[in-house]
Amino acid sequence: MTLLTVSDFEKLAKEKLTQAAYDYYSSGANEEITLRENCDAYKRIFLKYRVLSDVSKRQLSTEVLSQKISMPLMIAPTAFHKMANEFGEVAVAKAATKAGTIMILSTLSNSSVEEVTAASEGNIWFQLYVFKDREVTINLIKRVENAGCKALVLTVDAPLLGLRERDVRNKFTLPEGFTVKNLEPYYKEKLSVKTDSGIAGYFSENLDPSLNWKDIEWLKSNTNLPIVIKGIGCKEDALLAVQYGADAIVVSNHGGRQLDTCRATIDVLPEVADAVSGKIEILLDGGIRRGTDILKALAFGAKAVLTGRPVLWGLAADGEKGVSSVLDIFRNEFDLAMTLCGCDSVNKISKDMIAK
Ligand code: FNR
Ligand code: LAC
Repeated sequence: MTLLTVSDFEKLAKEKLTQAAYDYYSSGANEEITLRENCDAYKRIFLKYRVLSDVSKRQLSTEVLSQKISMPLMIAPTAFHKMANEFGEVAVAKAATKAGTIMILSTLSNSSVEEVTAASEGNIWFQLYVFKDREVTINLIKRVENAGCKALVLTVDAPLLGLRERDVRNKFTLPEGFTVKNLEPYYKEKLSVKTDSGIAGYFSENLDPSLNWKDIEWLKSNTNLPIVIKGIGCKEDALLAVQYGADAIVVSNHGGRQLDTCRATIDVLPEVADAVSGKIEILLDGGIRRGTDILKALAFGAKAVLTGRPVLWGLAADGEKGVSSVLDIFRNEFDLAMTLCGCDSVNKISKDMIAK
C-alpha cells in the first residue's frame, strides 16, 4: 500500500497494534461525538484562494515562545509510546528533531525525560500532570528543568479521566515490562488494578482534581520555565489564563477524550482569538489530519497546531521513520495548500483566506 496520507498510516497502524493499544490510542470519550466533530468541523470550513501572486518561494517556518520551528506543526503530548514501537518516545523525539519541530513529552511516557532530551536538540517541552503529592510534582519539575526542557505545558482538562468505554471493556493496562517511567523514583510507575481502565484508576488515585487558577501562581513560583495552559475550551478561560500569567494556551479538548459533546476546537478558536487579541500565543490541537486543517487553524488565529494520533500511527507503522513520514506528509500538504491559496508566507495567513 502506498502511504500517501495520514489516514493510510492509521490503517497500517491498526494492523500492527494490539486491539487494546489501538483502542487506547484512537478512542474518545463516551459516544465519541467530539472525537469525530474535531475532524468534521474542518470539512464545513471552505477556503478562498487568490491567483497570480508569485508563490515560487514559500516561508513555512515560524516561532513559538521565541523558539524557531520549521513549520507551524508541533507534536502533542500523548502517553505510552512503547505500545507502538520499542523505542517509544525516543524515536518520536528523533523524528521531531530531524523535522525541526517541537515535541511535547507527556508526563505519562514509557521513556524518561532524560532519555528523550538526550535524543533531541533543545526542542522538547514537557506536559505536566499535577500529582496530589505536590512533592512528587515539584521533584518532577526540577528534573524536567535539569533535563533541558524548554517549557511546561500544564494540562487542565483532565481533573478526572474521561470515560473511554473501549478501555473499560478491554480492561486497559500497560503491557508487561512497560511503566510510567518518569514516576519510577516516586513509586507511581504502575497503572491501577482497582478499576477496569487502569489509566482512569491511575488518574483518580494520583492526580489532583483540586487544581485551580491559584495553582498557576504556585506553579510559577516553582519554575522559571514558560507556562503553557493546555485544554482551554472557551473565551472565559482563555482570558483567565492571560490574567494568571500563562505564556501561551492550547485550545484543546484532549482529542475528544474528556468531555464528550463539547465543541470542536476549530469552532472554539475564533472566540478565543478575539478575546486574547494577541496578548499571548494561541496553539490548537484536535482533528488536524490535513495540510488545509493547519491553514484554517492559522487563519483563525492559531500560531501553530499540535498533532496527537497521527504521530502514533506513524510510530506504530514504522518507528522513527514512520513519524518522519507523517510529519513530511503534513509539511507537503500544508505547503501545497498555502501555494494554491496564493500565499507565500505563514505570516500572511489571515481570515481573508476563509470563504464567508
Ligand atoms: C492524549 N492526549 C494527552 N494530553 C496530555 O496533555 N497528556 C497526555 O498524556 C495525553 N495522552 C494522550 C494519549 C493519547 C493516546 C491521545 C490520543 C491523546 C491529548 C493530546 O495531547 C491532544 O490533545 C490530542 O491528541 C489532539 O487530538 P488529535 O491530534 O489526536 O486529533
Ligand atoms: C489520555 C491521558 C493519558 O488521554 O491524557 O489517555
